[in-house]
Amino acid sequence: MSSVFYRAPGQAYPRAVRGEGVYLWDADGQKYLDGSGGAAISCLGHGHAGVISAVRRQAGDMAFAHTQFFTNEPQEQLAVRLAELCPIPDARVYFLSGGSEANETALKLVRQYWRSAGEHDRHIVITRRQSYHGNTLGALSVTGHTKRRAPYEPMLHQWPRVSPCNAYRDQLPNETTAQYVRRLADELDQAIVAAGPGNVAAFMGETVVGASLGAVPPAEGYWRAMREVCDRHGILLVLDEVMAGCGRTGTWHGFEQDGIQPDIVTLAKGISGGYQPLGAALASGAVHERMAQDGFAHGHTFVGHATACAAGLAVLDAIEHEDLLKQVRHRGRLLRSELRRRFSSHAHVGEVRGRGLFVGLELVLDRETRQPVPAEWGLPAKLRKAAMAHGLICYPGGGTADGKDGAHILLAPPFIISEPQVHELCELLSDTLGGFSFDGTD
Ligand SMILES: Cc1ncc(COP(=O)(O)O)c(C=O)c1O
Repeated sequence: MSSVFYRAPGQAYPRAVRGEGVYLWDADGQKYLDGSGGAAISCLGHGHAGVISAVRRQAGDMAFAHTQFFTNEPQEQLAVRLAELCPIPDARVYFLSGGSEANETALKLVRQYWRSAGEHDRHIVITRRQSYHGNTLGALSVTGHTKRRAPYEPMLHQWPRVSPCNAYRDQLPNETTAQYVRRLADELDQAIVAAGPGNVAAFMGETVVGASLGAVPPAEGYWRAMREVCDRHGILLVLDEVMAGCGRTGTWHGFEQDGIQPDIVTLAKGISGGYQPLGAALASGAVHERMAQDGFAHGHTFVGHATACAAGLAVLDAIEHEDLLKQVRHRGRLLRSELRRRFSSHAHVGEVRGRGLFVGLELVLDRETRQPVPAEWGLPAKLRKAAMAHGLICYPGGGTADGKDGAHILLAPPFIISEPQVHELCELLSDTLGGFSFDGTD
């Protein structure tokens, strides 16, 4: 009998006791290849000596001092490094303890920005269906993930949501990419008009959609078109790069590959590689300047936590010194091509997609018709369990097709994964999928 209130009450979990490189071990000695870095977190894998010694050093010097009274060296240094890496002009960095907090902060930032601008009616944040921005009530309000919202629906803001950009599912057979993007831009435009342009504060989305769709990158030109619509209505653009940021897609920010700049970007997960809880909201100098005059009624106890920021600095050092962005691009290409090779004739792998080491497989009943896996089968949970039995950590999800039906597997291995380990990951995934008949009896 455990006293832990588990994420899924009643479920039995193996006890993780050791990590080294891309592998984890449980108390029974079972070895797992961490093919999803948990949920796109462990970018340096496990047991990274440089990060561990940075955390030890900082904890020894001064683990924590409340930022209502003090600033600290690691937060100052990490802010400079993140601002330098961010193409947003004069970015200011607000440090938090995770992705939900970072997105809550972004929501409050856009609200305070408009109050400072004298536009007190602007409060609505338009987001997209099949998106995930976090589990706190504000972040969940802007989330489109149906299943995660459902129990709390009466407690959430009912703000407009538009279509995700998911060409595999939604681009029409006779539609060019440019026409598809135009249709999505028109939809956002109409949503802003319907909400009353003077009421809308921001549009927010994941640059590459993670947990809800399985590493779906935007269609060519999508973010440029969305930026244009935001600019036309004078609203802010917030990009959630909690999963897609910090090098996961092969560039420090995912949006660098889309030729745009948001006004605010949020980071977490890989920012500290899981060695400490850390998140960040980066706002442009213009956003910061406008609202700074009125202050920002916000804050948490662990904002700017010195030991967490020291971990963030050490992760950044490792990514730079070990030239890992280049490795993410190379290994990502290898992983996608190897998955395509293995599964090109698999009856139930509809698409292999992604950017960098952020990779998704959409599972279907029929490759031709793309008929989704029914939600009632509960396939994602079964896949997670079967993968673990094979010694693989991957991140399956459901609702991929329409918010209810559909299934995918998200892969986000550590950036340090070697070529043989990429093949091992594919082998383990192939063994896992081989145990499923996709007829509802699994
Ligand atoms: C895109 C995205 N945003 C926000 C979050 C929430 O982050 P956290 O779980 O650290 O609160 C997640 C978590 O999976 C995420 O994938």
